[in-house]
Amino acid sequence: KKAQIGVTGLAVMGANLARNFARKGYTVALHNRSVARTDALLAEHGHEGSFVRTESLEELVGALESPRRILVMVKAGGPVDAVIEALVPLLDPGDIVIDGGNSYFQDTRRREAALAAVGLHFVGVGVSGGEEGALLGPSIMPGGPQESYASLGPMLESIAARAEDGAPCCAWIGPDGAGHFVKMVHNGIEYADMQVIGEAHELLRSVAGLEPGEQAEVFRQWNTGELASYLIEITAEVLGQVDARTGKPLIDVIVDAAGQKGTGTWTVQEALALGSPVTGIAESVFARALSSAEPAMRAQAQRLLPAGVGATTEDVVGDAGFVEDVRQALYASKLVAYAQGLDMLTLAGAEYGWELDLAAIASLWRQGCIIRAQLLETIMEAYAGESAPANLLFAPAVTTALEAALPAWRRVVARAVERGIPAPVFSSTLAYYDSLRRPRLNAALTQGLRDYFGAHTYRRVDDASAGAYHTLWSGDRSEVIA
Ligand code: 6PG
Repeated sequence: KKAQIGVTGLAVMGANLARNFARKGYTVALHNRSVARTDALLAEHGHEGSFVRTESLEELVGALESPRRILVMVKAGGPVDAVIEALVPLLDPGDIVIDGGNSYFQDTRRREAALAAVGLHFVGVGVSGGEEGALLGPSIMPGGPQESYASLGPMLESIAARAEDGAPCCAWIGPDGAGHFVKMVHNGIEYADMQVIGEAHELLRSVAGLEPGEQAEVFRQWNTGELASYLIEITAEVLGQVDARTGKPLIDVIVDAAGQKGTGTWTVQEALALGSPVTGIAESVFARALSSAEPAMRAQAQRLLPAGVGATTEDVVGDAGFVEDVRQALYASKLVAYAQGLDMLTLAGAEYGWELDLAAIASLWRQGCIIRAQLLETIMEAYAGESAPANLLFAPAVTTALEAALPAWRRVVARAVERGIPAPVFSSTLAYYDSLRRPRLNAALTQGLRDYFGAHTYRRVDDASAGAYHTLWSGDRSEVIA
């Protein structure tokens, strides 16, 4: 019997996706550069479904029904190109090559164009949910030629997570790199989501005096309300963990230098190119960079830089009101971070000619992925109607939620600043919110200065035709139309 899908690259993500397909009743052809890994997978999990063992890409291609579907699960970058190069001569027009890794979307656009030119379909798929998600139901973001979704979509939907309403957490996102782009922004939001949780954790400890074990209980409680989400849930697990070696909370023996594989940085680089103000995501990426800066420099800073914290700050240790304030600040910052990420998707859609359906994207993030959260139901509803809001923050349910949280959010940011506790995402998302709603921004002065030193011109508030004006700064200071 010919296999319906082939998987090449059987590291944990590839292996688990292959098993997921097999458990859903598909016959799956397996290939890995070293056959030992294929055999190990078959020995351990071969009984879970119908697998075909292959030892070469030729054999893999030969094992597949037509049109062939081949899922490539190798390291993003050069290895993906190498596999594609080896596969292309073996394939026939109409066959589908699927890249399920965290590839850079511009690579996906390039590969899609190259394969389209030889009659092949290239589908760049964002897959979220980690190892467990890959096996039990990930959130899946496929991009590429829409016609390939007719053949591939049902298979992907069958292995995807399901939302509470039964909808699969998988939908065709758009042409070429759209799927990988949306996965990249998902990761940017993931960074912000984790950073705001980290800021809450730090404030609960340094201001409210809650030990990690006590905080685990707080997060567990928060997970029953509007903050309910996978990341809050696992925060309770991590904070509650006691280190076997020292008896201390595990969190206190983990080095405070955050790593990253690059998707967060890509999100911010791309946001800069698009002019998309994803301040919360950017601060999260920078917070990771700062944490892993030269340890020697951090040590020196601790010796040299004074806190300048006044003695007047009242103590709020054990203050339940402050804990609730932090919860509300966390929710509000999270809302803004999601709004920024979605706004970036809108800008990218216009730039790259994708018609991104934000309701569908929010829908497929509801389960399976790392940022899955109760909030995504609200976001999905915000975009589900006829007239989508220009910014998530304008959806009535979101505006109302922010209004309720604002006093607490401002108190928390003020307290953090007073105490010298960094809360970059709490504060930058609040600055974004305030910048959006202010009738006048200090950009007027920026324009005045640019005109002064470089004759860059400015527009006047009383000229609807948006003409460019210049003041003769080094002359008689009269104004001319440029
Ligand atoms: C997911 C995750 C995953 C990502 C890790 C690590 O959606 O399942 O986003 O794809 O690789 O979260 O990312 P960093 O190493 O950049 O933190």
